[in-house]
Amino acid sequence: MYPPGELHLDGYTESDTSELTKLRNAPTQLHRYLSEADGEGIRFLVYEQDNEIRGFVMLFLRQPAQGSPKSHIPKISDLHVAQRFRSMGMGTIMIARMEELALAFGHKVMHVGVDPVDNPRALALYQRLGYAPMDAPQQKKAVFYDAKGNATEREYWYINLGKQLGYGFVDAI
Ligand SMILES: CC(C)(COP(=O)(O)OP(=O)(O)OC[C@H]1O[C@@H](n2cnc3c(N)ncnc32)[C@H](O)[C@@H]1OP(=O)(O)O)[C@@H](O)C(=O)NCCC(=O)NCCS
Repeated sequence: MYPPGELHLDGYTESDTSELTKLRNAPTQLHRYLSEADGEGIRFLVYEQDNEIRGFVMLFLRQPAQGSPKSHIPKISDLHVAQRFRSMGMGTIMIARMEELALAFGHKVMHVGVDPVDNPRALALYQRLGYAPMDAPQQKKAVFYDAKGNATEREYWYINLGKQLGYGFVDAI
């Protein structure tokens, strides 16, 4: 049974990062995400229940204007569920909502990048939901934040996953 909850769409401003940093202590990164989100092509969504933010996720329906371009569009990015609410189905609900949004905007495929070495649970979750590897794992470098908010740059493994959306109807006969 999924937890009841309201997945609020968008509407997030930079002043709200104090709530978000309780989930992931990375204010600089969260400020950047929120400033990129425009409520249309780039969305920052939060899962809110009992006036508490319990999860967040970004959806790229277009390429960001700044920073490195995404390998694929549309793409789910930075799915995050508060530690004490994991394994309750919230991640699954948020992924399903991202897929619905992408479909509503005419996309027929969804993408996500996962670290198969450090994050086998996330990989298993996406695979269970129908995502499959699109290429071989590659090594990348990025800044990571620990629970105290300390940033460190390190290398990590990354694999792109993709999923066909909808029922796979042929476009035209
Ligand atoms: C990855 C992440 C987003 C998954 O979120 P989640 O809310 O825990 O995901 P779900 O609950 O939908 O599914 C995960 C697990 O719960 C189980 N589950 C889902 N719904 C369930 C239910 N109703 N009852 C019991 N178990 C359930 C799933 O089988 C799965 O099994 P696991 O515990 O062995 O992994 C979360 O772990 C997280 O925030 N991790 C840190 C950040 C991160 O790694 N993000 C991913 C980047 S790619």
